[in-house]
Amino acid sequence: MSAGYEPIVWNESLMTGVEIIDEQHQMLVNMFNEANRRLTANSGRDVLEDIVRDLMSYALYHFDTEEELMVENAYMPEAQEAHFREHRAFSAKVSGLQQDLRYGKLISREELLSFLNGWLINHILNTDQKLGKFLNKPAA
Ligand SMILES: [Fe+2]
Repeated sequence: MSAGYEPIVWNESLMTGVEIIDEQHQMLVNMFNEANRRLTANSGRDVLEDIVRDLMSYALYHFDTEEELMVENAYMPEAQEAHFREHRAFSAKVSGLQQDLRYGKLISREELLSFLNGWLINHILNTDQKLGKFLNKPAA
């Protein structure tokens, strides 16, 4: 399958119904789409570093929001642990990329976009939807 990336089109299936989460997810999707526009086959280190840094900082801010919601609302411990783990795995991968870039090892446009696209879509559609369902459940 070609990985010549298309923008992610924000749609109903991505919505969790939790306003703050959906707003932040839209921001992440916009950031992905902007990266998609900015990156070319031979983007240099500066552009890559910019994109990765901005994404990392917004992702960390967003993870904090979700993690606070989980803690405040007493999310099921196993689900919470799995969710936190996915956030940590993303951060670890991105900080590895930052490290590589610092040492001059560039990631290709395709590889970066396919990682981001795959992670975002998969995490939003599965892990975050599960959290959304829990948070939207009327209190017993
Ligand atoms: Fe999440």
